[in-house]
Amino acid sequence: MLSLACIAGVMITSCAGPSEQTANEPTISKVVQDIHSYARPDQAIVKHLNWDAQVDFGKKEIVAVARLDIEAASGASELVLDTKGLQIERVTLGEQEEMGTFEMGEFNEHMGSALKINIKPDTKRVNVYYRTGADAEALQWLSPEQTAGKEHPFLFTQSQAILARSWVPIQDSPGIRFTYEATVQVPPALMALMSAENPMQRNESGVYKFKMDQPIPAYLLALSVGDLEFAPISTRTGVYAEPSMIKESAYEFAELDKMLVAAEELYGPYRWERYDLIVLPPSFPFGGMENPRLTFATPTILAGDRSLTSLVAHELAHSWSGNLVTNATWNDFWLNEGFTVYFERRIMEALYGKDYADMLAVLGRQDLEATIAQLKEENRAADTKLYLDLEGRSPDDGMTDIAYEKGYYLLRYLEDQVGREKWDAFLREYFSANAFETMTTEAFLSYLSENLLEPNNLNAEQLGLKQWIYEEGLPASVPAVTSERFQQVEQALQQWKGGTPASQLNTKDWSSHEWLHFIRNLPQELNQQQLAELDAAFGFTNSGNSEILAAWFIHAIAHEYEPAYSALDRFLNKVGRRKFLAPIYRKLAETEKGKELALNIYRRARTNYHFVSSSSIDKIIGYQELEEKAE
Ligand code: BES
Ligand code: ZN
Repeated sequence: MLSLACIAGVMITSCAGPSEQTANEPTISKVVQDIHSYARPDQAIVKHLNWDAQVDFGKKEIVAVARLDIEAASGASELVLDTKGLQIERVTLGEQEEMGTFEMGEFNEHMGSALKINIKPDTKRVNVYYRTGADAEALQWLSPEQTAGKEHPFLFTQSQAILARSWVPIQDSPGIRFTYEATVQVPPALMALMSAENPMQRNESGVYKFKMDQPIPAYLLALSVGDLEFAPISTRTGVYAEPSMIKESAYEFAELDKMLVAAEELYGPYRWERYDLIVLPPSFPFGGMENPRLTFATPTILAGDRSLTSLVAHELAHSWSGNLVTNATWNDFWLNEGFTVYFERRIMEALYGKDYADMLAVLGRQDLEATIAQLKEENRAADTKLYLDLEGRSPDDGMTDIAYEKGYYLLRYLEDQVGREKWDAFLREYFSANAFETMTTEAFLSYLSENLLEPNNLNAEQLGLKQWIYEEGLPASVPAVTSERFQQVEQALQQWKGGTPASQLNTKDWSSHEWLHFIRNLPQELNQQQLAELDAAFGFTNSGNSEILAAWFIHAIAHEYEPAYSALDRFLNKVGRRKFLAPIYRKLAETEKGKELALNIYRRARTNYHFVSSSSIDKIIGYQELEEKAE
């Protein structure tokens, strides 16, 4: 028999099979303890969730019962779940619903409280009756004004990294997987969707049923409720959006099936049946979230010209890296994101060519260098390591571009060592051999040595892999990247600096990426006249492209270019995507005048932001202290 830890998927190396397991070997010593979960998978683990919920927009709460099928080690007396802000009403045991007893542990600001439920030797099911708290951190309740249609309210969840526990009492660790089913009651005018098999159609009763037969970790639990409509893209892909957004959404993502085909050709079959997208209201705090079968996406990628769809390739790629092979703890986050960025760029290369993927890699490199510099400045150089140490901190603290881009460059470096053919074969096998399992950084390193390095007479030491993973900054061996298309952008920049009017630069056929490169590389020193000239020639301030706008606002703030300020105010009041907000507020906070403006805007905009974004911006502008001073 495999140990309970193996069943839970918390260990890799010792889970190969019976031959490696000796009878009296203590299981517990092998469990990779997740420092961000109270769960004790060595005692009892959740295998299946049956969630029965009512969504109450009036009270902004979810009232639910979570029926949990569990497997307990012999002699175990407790099932420990993670919760945050949940009001637990009662706990019953078994199908007969015998009254159970439980205890809530101490509250921790990042982790919430343990819910310790007493179980009996024959307990196979535990039923938890509860309601969500007023500040449930995963949930964002939107008023009709915050939606595109302005008529109906909207609710969405964001569970990654450890916010699932604020809406479901569950073992909220990426190392613990379970299947689920759900019945959700919503107001009859609205439609509910989950990270599961979805009904796809509205129904009059407002009761929706969901099923997820593949085991997933809690951070992939997701729910969205709103005035939604579905448009098919192919037989196995499609998009959900508010009715007024559905047409442009279907246009923007028309190549979804092609992406899926390219992904499967690269790294093996898609294991989740359908792949759909939902375009959320603009306050969604991320660009995208890889909720299985139903990626959640920001409307800020609707550029009108399909030029920001690499984000979709990214979330799709997570269907392999992350959702199939999952980081065991948040310290191993780079295993999710670094692999996904690599895979994303391979999908984009397959669809649009090497030129295109090179642009993404160069932009990524700029982000990486900027992040390293910033983390050093903030005395957080330790967070430039791939393997993180998040003990006692919010996992969110470690979720920087390091995991994404340093991770990407490590994989590119490995590809260079053995050549693309062997590397691709290795990755394909990696995803298939470890499907529906978790992966630690150490387990990855041994898998890599055994399956790629040794057969090719290479070793981790000679490649400096320890340095890549456990040390700060970028090793000298980082592959160089260049982009031909960006060389033309750089030429245009030179010409402009040399006196050619902006309106005469050759910018024909530039995509979002070329524009981004252009704006990012404008000279540090710019006068009002130059800013106005660029703006007149290229219409940056009024751009409908969020990437262009966000990059332009950085210059506008740096030089107090006031013609852009009302657009800036509108943008910050509408968009809640942290990747855009954080650099803008950070730039504003550099001067006293900017800080004043930031605070003026933030006081109005804050209620439009999800917890994930507002908690970051609070820190950037020192909101709490400022508000206390003001009182
Ligand atoms: N899984 C992440 C989003 C995430 C990370 C949520 C950490 C919570 C904690 C998602 O796949 C992602 O990386 N989104 C990026 C887009 C991507 C193209 C880099 C984003 O939202 O900007
Ligand atoms: Zn990602």
